[in-house]
This record gives sequence, structure tokens and C-alpha cells, in this order.
Amino acid sequence: MAWLRIAIDSQVNKRYGFFEKADSMLNIKAPAKINLHLAVKGRRPDGFHDLESIFLALDWGDSLCFDCGGAEGQCAIQTTWDIPIDGAVIQPEENVVFKAVSLFRARSGFMQGLRIRLDKRIPLGAGLGGGSSDAAATLLALNQLSDVELPLAALRELAEDLGSDVPFFLSSGAAFVSGRGERVEPLVAPEGLSVVLVYPGFVSNTRRAFALLDADGHERCVSRSREVLVQALGGKPADWPYHNDFLPVFLAAGTGVYRDLLGELRRLGADFASLSGSGSTCFGVFSDENVASRAVEAFRWCGGFICLTFPLAYSTRGY
Ligand code: C5P
Repeated sequence: MAWLRIAIDSQVNKRYGFFEKADSMLNIKAPAKINLHLAVKGRRPDGFHDLESIFLALDWGDSLCFDCGGAEGQCAIQTTWDIPIDGAVIQPEENVVFKAVSLFRARSGFMQGLRIRLDKRIPLGAGLGGGSSDAAATLLALNQLSDVELPLAALRELAEDLGSDVPFFLSSGAAFVSGRGERVEPLVAPEGLSVVLVYPGFVSNTRRAFALLDADGHERCVSRSREVLVQALGGKPADWPYHNDFLPVFLAAGTGVYRDLLGELRRLGADFASLSGSGSTCFGVFSDENVASRAVEAFRWCGGFICLTFPLAYSTRGY
């Protein structure tokens, strides 16, 4: 089977993922993301927070295999874990993939039995969007497998119900993301960069991170205008005016490991280093791939896991 590029929207809004389809089977990739910038605005009446963020999808992540078969309306999920972290278990019925299947079925009437294999590489609670990407990949896969092809607007509504980060993964190159996460404006992804992910080996709970941020009363970094943030993406990473509002809050709360990891990434030659999402993964962006490779070697001590990857939009390597 050959990998085919999914283009679910017009020329501008492509999903930079790939799927392979044969008969009743479909394989699809669910890439990880990092937040180059994450400004948390006010808390809204619905309890969520308005955000302004720049998301970048990576050429590394989970993969899913969908096989139509079995009894009508049934859905069996088998998960394999390629994550060197203890205790990473999700019960099938708690898996967001299962929820995505249920929502898609309710909307489309697609009731064929499904056997799904989920190969997990993205750690849970890592700020890399693993569950959200799995959920979006599931919507896209089912839309390919079912006869009733839902329009993108309907997939977006389902994505929004599944989680704040899910809409981004319907068109995962780079994007300026705002609102709760549902407003996704595709951007031209930066070219020629390498990304080193450093997962420190512990989980960060998103809900608790937002609560900490609310309680902290910490002064937020002054955020630039959307235009300045978007324009900066085309410039050198060393000049990016980006920040993550969770970082000072975590540092004030005593999670000093982030300071150490980010300092080490910069010392090893990262042009830009930050925390992804609400943690716990730190990342460095490098203009020179050789410097990035050496940084990966130097980081072997860290105890979590380290990964060298690239922006998905231009990568031809494939994971
Ligand atoms: O939407 P998601 O399930 O990813 O959100 C997890 C939790 O993170 C929410 O229950 C909420 O507490 C917090 N959150 C938020 N504002 C956002 C996204 C998430 O407050 N924009």
C-alpha cells in the first residue's frame, strides 16, 4: 500500500498527514505537536480559557490502523505502547479514540464493526497533543472509510467536542490557534529546522495547570499582537518573540527541572527553547541538524526520553 496525502480542504488547509487504504483497512498517522507560543488569556464563563498559540505539527507521533469487521456497532481497540515510561495505560472505553468513534457514528450513522490498533509513541500528559491527534486521526479515518463523507465543518464540530486541541489536528501543519482552541488559522510552517523533544519522565495534568495559573495571579508576559507573532514565524528562531505562560507559574511553584532542561537545550545550541502546552515536554528548535543531533546525545542522561524530529510540513522522512 502506498501512503496517500489527505487534503481535506482547499489548497491552503491541507492535512500534512498520510494514510494508506486497502479494501476495508486504513492506516493513518497521528503526529505530535509543540506550542512555539502559548499565551493564556482570561478565564471564560464556561470555565475554559481563551488562548493565543502557535502550533507546529511534527514528523513523529502515534499511528492507527482501522479494520472494518466484527459485529455492527462494535469497536475494539488494541493499544501497543512504544513509550519507555511506566504506568502508561488507558482503558479502551476511556480512550478518546473510542469517544471519537461514538461521536462520528452518532453524526453519520456509520455503524460497521471496527477493530482499531493504536501504536502509541507520544507520552500521556506530555503537552504534545497525543490524545487529541489520535482523536482527529480517527475522525479523518472514519470519514474515509464510511460512505457518508461528512463535510469539514461537521468534522470540526466533532473535533471541538472531543477536546480543545483536536481541531488543530484536522489541518496539522502550523497554525495560529485562538479561542478555546477551535479557531485554527493555517500558517506557512518554518523550513529547515530541527526539533529536539525532552520529556522529563513525569506527567503534567492540563486541568491542574490551568487551575494553578488562575490561582497564581502571576503577571503574564506581555503578549504581542497576532500580526507580530505570525510574522515572526518566518524569521530566525533566535529572534522569535514567543513564550509560554505556564512556564513562570511552574517555576514559581517549584518545578525547577524545566529551568534546567531549557538552560541545557540553549547551552547545547538551541536557537529557541520552551515548554510545550501545559508541560511536561521541553523542546529546543535548532537551525543546524548536526547541532541538534549532538544535543540529543548529550541529553541521554535525562531519564525521560529524547527525540530528534522535524516540522511535519516539509519532512519527507516519515516515522
Ligand atoms: O479541552 P481539553 O479536554 O483538552 O481540556 C482539558 C482541561 O484544560 C479543561 O477541562 C480545562 O480545565 C482546561 N482548558 C482550559 N482552557 C482551554 C483548554 C483547556 O481551561 N482553552
